[in-house]
Amino acid sequence: MSSLTNKRILLGVCGGIAAYKSAELIRKLQIRGADVRVVMTPAAKAFITPLTLQALSGHSVRDSLLDPDAEGGMGHIELARWADLILVAPATADFISKLAIGEGSDLLSTLCLASPALLALAPAMNQQMWAAQITQENVSLLEQRGAALCGPAAGEQACGDVGPGRMLEPEELAVKAEALFECAELSGKTVVITAGPTREPIDPVRYISNHSSGKMGYALAEAAVEAGAKVYLITGPCQLAGPERVSVEQVETAAQMHKSALALAAKADVFIGAAAVADYRIATPAKEKIKKTDNTLTLELTKNPDIISDVASLEQSPFVVGFAAETNHVVEHAREKRLRKNLDLIIANDVSDQSIGFNSDDNAVTLIAESGEQVLGRRNKRLLARDIIQHIAAVLS
Ligand code: C5P
Repeated sequence: MSSLTNKRILLGVCGGIAAYKSAELIRKLQIRGADVRVVMTPAAKAFITPLTLQALSGHSVRDSLLDPDAEGGMGHIELARWADLILVAPATADFISKLAIGEGSDLLSTLCLASPALLALAPAMNQQMWAAQITQENVSLLEQRGAALCGPAAGEQACGDVGPGRMLEPEELAVKAEALFECAELSGKTVVITAGPTREPIDPVRYISNHSSGKMGYALAEAAVEAGAKVYLITGPCQLAGPERVSVEQVETAAQMHKSALALAAKADVFIGAAAVADYRIATPAKEKIKKTDNTLTLELTKNPDIISDVASLEQSPFVVGFAAETNHVVEHAREKRLRKNLDLIIANDVSDQSIGFNSDDNAVTLIAESGEQVLGRRNKRLLARDIIQHIAAVLS
């Protein structure tokens, strides 16, 4: 399976003759399982039509920052959050210079500013423009800030010059894009993740549960696999497909999750508790369906075991990461929870904000460890998962 499977790639096309190769690049990315959306700069439209790129990508092509229709649907901020990767191909000298100074004068440059996604640039320009000191300085500045440089290749140019400045071929660019999602930072490590809600039976047909979608835990499993780890996902009932290359164990109750987690955590290097475990279960679930004969029904609840605390108390405990979904004094409560549960790292998020967290595709968190704290601003859960896994890998190494 390609590491681009299900990845959301925003292809930025700038105004250069190499823009004709962007059409084939869409196909090369799609073959690898990526969902590709295209944003063009105004100048790009002089080299290739939006219609061509729309037909190939299967989505309308965006080219204007001030597009009233788009703001209602996939506005520039939504598009910025949507992407896992922004691949600018071709990236002209002019566009690279805009990025270097942080200009947001068109949709594409604004998206690059507004997005926490990975940014990759495939330069394409005349060899003299590429060699120009200012271009070289701009490129190294962007690389220092984390942008990945793909190319350029050297050879004959459309203008007749010979030298470095040609855009890489679409196949080469697709391979480079794949490599961006493959890192071996957790290779040889075993990661156990809990995800989703638990269901605590009341009787044979009813249960107590919560709104957890499982998205965060599943995204963490996917990111850990991409980082080279062997991954076990212990999941409560979710509407999500199990990520590829992950050993998935389906459970229902907190007690079942507890049993599986302790068995697997014993051989794990990292344990991540992303599940929204029910704090209580029905003390004695009814064997038969409860009839609605009385006006009130009293259920006696008993506390569930704290899975993550028990994992953290193991003699040979893995690196333990928990989540703290809070509605007020988010960071303070999370700090206290980390100490109380004896966790190496806690990920705090504000669930009073309805647009992030439970059931949403996005989240914004603060990572809290003994050594310090780090804020990861709002981004899609898949991207967030990648950042969290990289953070864990950096700590482990
Ligand atoms: O105590 P609280 O539910 O706020 O703690 C959240 C963290 O603890 C999450 O990482 C969650 O997966 C974990 N947890 C657990 N077992 C429980 C309750 C919470 O592992 N019974």
